[in-house]
Amino acid sequence: MKGMVVYDTSYGNTKTIAETIAETLKGAGLEVDVLHVKDVKKLSAKDYDFLVLGSPTRFGTMSFAIRGFLGKVKSEEWMNKPFAAFDTENPENIEKALAEKKEWSAAEKIAEKLIDKKMKQLLPVLKAAVFGQKGPLKEGEIERTKDYAKEIANRLNEEKV
Ligand SMILES: Cc1cc2nc3c(=O)[nH]c(=O)nc-3n(C[C@H](O)[C@H](O)[C@H](O)COP(=O)(O)O)c2cc1C
Repeated sequence: MKGMVVYDTSYGNTKTIAETIAETLKGAGLEVDVLHVKDVKKLSAKDYDFLVLGSPTRFGTMSFAIRGFLGKVKSEEWMNKPFAAFDTENPENIEKALAEKKEWSAAEKIAEKLIDKKMKQLLPVLKAAVFGQKGPLKEGEIERTKDYAKEIANRLNEEKV
């Protein structure tokens, strides 16, 4: 199976999460292209079996570039293909979403859009905590990301059977 990990980033934290996911998926035997959203020249569903999409959370939602990318994901081509969504956001924001039962997360909004396009969400979103605007990532987030990606690989392998 071949997948695409697409991310946006300003300060590198979301890139680190994307690359950790991609490396872990490769370690689990999957083929993966990892691309900054601006480097996606051609989006052909024929080339990919699954999509992993991530964004920094800005003003409670995804970046403009990721929103633009989603506009290019054609439902008729990607429908029924599996996806996972992740973001980076501040720890206070993660707690706020739990307290208010309202989502301020890029990943949740990405997932909503991909579900609208009839793609299949493999597992709940990953929200990786970063401090402030530039980071760093909170301690332990890389390990948590590796576990998350291993679970993506497990679910994809179940899909194959
Ligand atoms: C303009 C701007 C708006 C932001 N808005 C939010 C926000 O609404 N919630 C949040 O948790 N973090 C917010 N942040 C912090 C970002 O989530 C953080 O900069 C990002 O996760 C870092 O990822 P990157 O290193 O990949 O750019 C904001 C950052 C910027 C620059």
